[in-house]
Amino acid sequence: MAFLELVDLDKRYTQKGNLIVKHMNLSIHKGEFLVFLGPSGCGKTTTIRMISGLEEISGGDILINGKSVVSLPPKDRGVSMIFQSYAVWPHMTVRENIAYPLRLQKVSKKDIVTRVEKAAAAANIMELLDRYPTQLSGGQRQRVAVARAIVVEPQIFLMDEPLSNLDAMLRVSMRSELKNIHESLGATSIFVTHDQSEAMSLADRIVIMKDGLIEQIGTPKDVYFDCESIFVASFIGVPPTNFFHVSVLKDDAGLLLKSQDVSYRVDALEEKMLSPYVGKEVVMGVRPENLEISDTFDDNTFLTTHADFIEPQGSHIIVISKLESSVIKISSSKLELQAKSLIHVSVKDRKAMFFDKDTEKRIRLQEE
Ligand SMILES: Nc1ncnc2c1ncn2[C@@H]1O[C@H](COP(=O)(O)OP(=O)(O)OP(=O)(O)O)[C@@H](O)[C@H]1O
Ligand SMILES: [Mg+2]
Repeated sequence: MAFLELVDLDKRYTQKGNLIVKHMNLSIHKGEFLVFLGPSGCGKTTTIRMISGLEEISGGDILINGKSVVSLPPKDRGVSMIFQSYAVWPHMTVRENIAYPLRLQKVSKKDIVTRVEKAAAAANIMELLDRYPTQLSGGQRQRVAVARAIVVEPQIFLMDEPLSNLDAMLRVSMRSELKNIHESLGATSIFVTHDQSEAMSLADRIVIMKDGLIEQIGTPKDVYFDCESIFVASFIGVPPTNFFHVSVLKDDAGLLLKSQDVSYRVDALEEKMLSPYVGKEVVMGVRPENLEISDTFDDNTFLTTHADFIEPQGSHIIVISKLESSVIKISSSKLELQAKSLIHVSVKDRKAMFFDKDTEKRIRLQEE
């Protein structure tokens, strides 16, 4: 059974306002580490604030362990939240900060002492307990916020961009610590971020949101290799997926995808998938690392162009080329490639995704 369930969850901030979160359905398993990823304003914070009880819902339901919690106040939901601006209280020592939620719960003094020390040990701040927040670095303050969130031994741990105020190095080390803490507590966590590398490295499953809707839910591998929509294919991956608007043409040899710039002979499996689109346009998506550069033209050549710019990345290069109708990026290991040279580009191992131009959703093989 799902541990945390969102059922047709709706949110509008004013009576007549637009739906900010639209009929969201989501089942989260116990112990799972889920990451919400999506552009600014898509409703990530709103959703987790509704789960924590800090924000009222406008429709639908939120179930924890099979029971609706929407009428419970935040403190009775077994949920802890860490915010982006880690909000530790400056006038309290670290120890008092961590103890605060336990004092609200009227936990005994003796238990407070032991639980604060346990949480501080997990967040690795034992030696900072008697300092004030102003005497701490950003990363240390963030750990205080973590300790304060875990001290209540939450069933569900909600983190809203908890690392965004930290520098790049600290972000990476704190994120593995947060994952460790999640695992050692056996908690169920939702982590919100803009940062896809953070999402990829932390998540059991990623929920990709856009305009208050879930675009795709899947493992990091799924959302990268098996995108449900143009949005997901363009949002995940750096550099992003290259897109080509191609016409689906039928000739004696089968199906051919063609545009001003490209030409792609379809194989049997792709033909099955694309045959309803003969005479129409589809959008073809190919990731930069799935385009292959060669010096010679052959049957597999997808497009011929010039390597207009080359961006060395150490282990590989990014080749940027302006086509008639778009700019493409190719990730290549041909470190010796010279800018301006003529290149023939093919698609590796049929690693192309096809999308419906109107719905922008992935075209899949229809089950017979
Ligand atoms: N208290 C509020 N009153 C009215 N509208 C709000 C309120 N809080 C958020 N919104 C709107 O709801 C939408 C979703 O906001 P939300 O903060 O959930 O986005 P987000 O995905 O967390 O974005 P970000 O990545 O920038 O933090 C936005 O359009 C925002 O302007
Ligand atoms: Mg937010």
